[in-house]
Amino acid sequence: MESAEVARRFLTFFEERGHTVVPSASLVAEDPTLLLVPAGMVPFKPYFLGQRTPPAPRMVSAQKCVRTPDIDEVGKTTRHATFFQMLGNFSIGDYFKEGAIPFAWELLTRSEADGGFGFPEDRLWVTVYQDDDEAADIWHREVGVPAERIQRRGLADNYWHMGVPGPGGPCSEIYYDRGPDYGREGGPVADEDRYLEVWNLVFMQEQLSKVRSKTDFDIAGPLPAKNIDTGMGLERMAAILQGVDNIYETDTLRKILDRAAELTGSRYGREHRADVSLRVIADHVRAGTMLVADGVIPANEGRGYVLRRLLRRAIRNLRLLGGRETGMMHELTAVAIDVMGQQYPELIRTAANIHAVIDAEEERFSQTLRTGTAIFDQAVAETRRAGRTTLAGEQAFTLHDTYGFPIDLTLEMAAEQGLKVDEEGFRRLLEEQRRRAKADAAAKKTGNLDVSVLGQLLDQAGGRVDFTGYHDVSGEARLVGLMVNGASVPAAGPGTDVEVVLDRTPFYAEGGGQLADQGVIRLGNGARIEVRDVQSPLPGLIVHRGTVRDGEAQAGDSAFAEIDVERRRAISRSHTATHMVHAGFRRALGESAAQAGSENSPGRFRFDFTSTGPVPPSVLRDVEDEVNEVLINDLDVRAFHTSLEEARAMGALALFGEKYGEEVRVVEVGDYSRELCGGTHVARSGQLGLIKVLGESSIGAGVRRVEALVGIDAFRFLARESVLVAQLSEQLKARKEELPERIAGVVSRLREAEKELERLRSQQVLAVAGSLAEGAKDVNGVAFVAHRVPDGTTADDLRKLAVDVRGRLAARPAVVMIAGVPKDRPVVVVALTEGARERGLKAGALVGVAAKALGGGGGGKDDLAQGGGANPQAIGDALAAVERAVGSA
Ligand code: ALA
Repeated sequence: MESAEVARRFLTFFEERGHTVVPSASLVAEDPTLLLVPAGMVPFKPYFLGQRTPPAPRMVSAQKCVRTPDIDEVGKTTRHATFFQMLGNFSIGDYFKEGAIPFAWELLTRSEADGGFGFPEDRLWVTVYQDDDEAADIWHREVGVPAERIQRRGLADNYWHMGVPGPGGPCSEIYYDRGPDYGREGGPVADEDRYLEVWNLVFMQEQLSKVRSKTDFDIAGPLPAKNIDTGMGLERMAAILQGVDNIYETDTLRKILDRAAELTGSRYGREHRADVSLRVIADHVRAGTMLVADGVIPANEGRGYVLRRLLRRAIRNLRLLGGRETGMMHELTAVAIDVMGQQYPELIRTAANIHAVIDAEEERFSQTLRTGTAIFDQAVAETRRAGRTTLAGEQAFTLHDTYGFPIDLTLEMAAEQGLKVDEEGFRRLLEEQRRRAKADAAAKKTGNLDVSVLGQLLDQAGGRVDFTGYHDVSGEARLVGLMVNGASVPAAGPGTDVEVVLDRTPFYAEGGGQLADQGVIRLGNGARIEVRDVQSPLPGLIVHRGTVRDGEAQAGDSAFAEIDVERRRAISRSHTATHMVHAGFRRALGESAAQAGSENSPGRFRFDFTSTGPVPPSVLRDVEDEVNEVLINDLDVRAFHTSLEEARAMGALALFGEKYGEEVRVVEVGDYSRELCGGTHVARSGQLGLIKVLGESSIGAGVRRVEALVGIDAFRFLARESVLVAQLSEQLKARKEELPERIAGVVSRLREAEKELERLRSQQVLAVAGSLAEGAKDVNGVAFVAHRVPDGTTADDLRKLAVDVRGRLAARPAVVMIAGVPKDRPVVVVALTEGARERGLKAGALVGVAAKALGGGGGGKDDLAQGGGANPQAIGDALAAVERAVGSA
């Protein structure tokens, strides 16, 4: 049974039993406590917590998931994958254990011909939480599982939570017995390789406030209702149903694995180490492809780091298999897009972007490997010189942090050199850095990560804060709750930094690239809160951050919220402008110019998009021109809600990573641009006034950034340029259009003049050659010339002069010594005629004498040598010393 068919059967089974099919959400979790979606239940979390009303009480999904804590296990065991798909059925306060258990049994044991998975009943085992008699009873009495195949386990195995505050509950797992070839008898408690977990049924009933570990957490209380969350690993099911030993050999992963073997000239199933590499490659390429498709870009922190690590581990393993040249990742990504595209058609649509990002990362990593190897060699040399056998933790960390060298690579290369690595030291430094980064990111995003406090505030706001800011810039509201330093407080006095929740607000929370509104909230009692930032840490919740002024802010008070209208207008102009420029680029460059991020701030916006290379200046100009031409036609900007499918059919641009939902908001600018967007915009394109594209640059890994100005800021920029040009025109006495030619003329004349000056100066220096030769002194039968040229004469001219004078004395034994100070330091040149050399004199030796007096060094051949020193005052001494040396020869 193909993987896609496993998913189809699961969804159909539950759809036929009253469940609404919910499409997979993006891997990028809409949840501040998570980096990436690790389980099928994540999109349903607000429903479990009672923060949002579910679209239906019964739902079913096949959710994309990524888990990386076990990344080192990938390929070594048969069942670890970083990317996988979780099939799950969900009940929000509808059925509980009595419903979930029989459903699961029915689907697993129903024959394949009948739409089930056809598992023989006697191969299935189940576990329940140690004191869950209710679940054990249902398994035994209602389903008929023999008591000896029902095992009880503790918190570590049979209680499920997210690892962070949120919902949790005891669970019951279903295992498939692969038979005696795979391990010991005795059920899952004895051997989890032989008994393979296929399905986990979680009885979600508690809300966790603190989670310290898998088995150590605080329960804040019961959830509003008793719920069901289940998870079946699609890949693992496919392995069993396809009769293969491990997930890497199932239909989808196997295709990537085979291609990797082909590209590297290796064979799967021959040698353990190569097999592990091939599995790592297959898993990581697929995970990387899926992450890029959801809008993640390689980076050094957060999600981007997860992606970078996956891609680099894949490339690294390709190299281990002997795959040296770049371009292999492209081939493998193409296979991943092809096999996963059946279930996720957006992969095929955005294939060009996915390739652009992954190719660029491969290129960049190859570069890293080249530079890093040189740094590594140096570290090895240092270690050896110091007589040590262990590479220091700091060195491994620098290699990793500055040069992007993965630690496994450092370990391996060190081992090849017979060295160890202080891994513990490395991990300590890494951990410190991670902690810093995490604390920074958390503080930036929400200022407060205690989700239970946020959840309460959301409850107090009636489950959802109304955003009125699409139409209003101010309005009445009620102050629902206050937080100071992340804790809920009833009141806050003047000067206090607070986070405030209103039941309704015109303030836009930062999101979708649009910066937050600022403004003021006036309270009924006369107090004021200056709002500097607005965030949405949970879906539906809007938190204002600012400072209390003039009085005390009290929960429950009436409020009047008012945004800074100028700022908002300027931001809205930027946002509409971004849409138009985006549309312009797509027209000019095609589909591959997909947005990878943006920031809309007052008067200014930037727009990141995937591209394999720089955008030519002519394209930038054309796009700018087109957008300005379109915007003055004063097109209507319209926003409306519709279904995602409808929006797609209308050709609306959904950025990759778009979350599927019941309904989406579409913003269109005439018929020039149509995009899914939750931001605020101008009413008519004419309000933008003007757009000025400032330029384009690379921000790494296949992503380019365009920066632009809009409205009055664009005008002022151009006005300043125009003043500048006017000044130039005035100074150069030329009309504006003549400026380029005039400046080129001025620059070339300047160059000529400099050359001429140089020539005259040499001439002047060389003019004294005749008189110097004539005035040569007789020192011990040798004609001796010693001369100091004016400061500033170049070393080159010094040499020319020495050679010229020597030429004039060629018939005699002669020593010519010229000294000068070209810049700050003295230079001497000594030239000897053949006659002088025959008498045993050497230019190099004489320069040595001079240089010594000057406090420096020098050298050269016997006939011509040059030297220098530090002290210009000593030139006289140097000349005298050389004269003495000639005299005593
Ligand atoms: N949420 C449960 C899991 O991830 C089903 O295993």
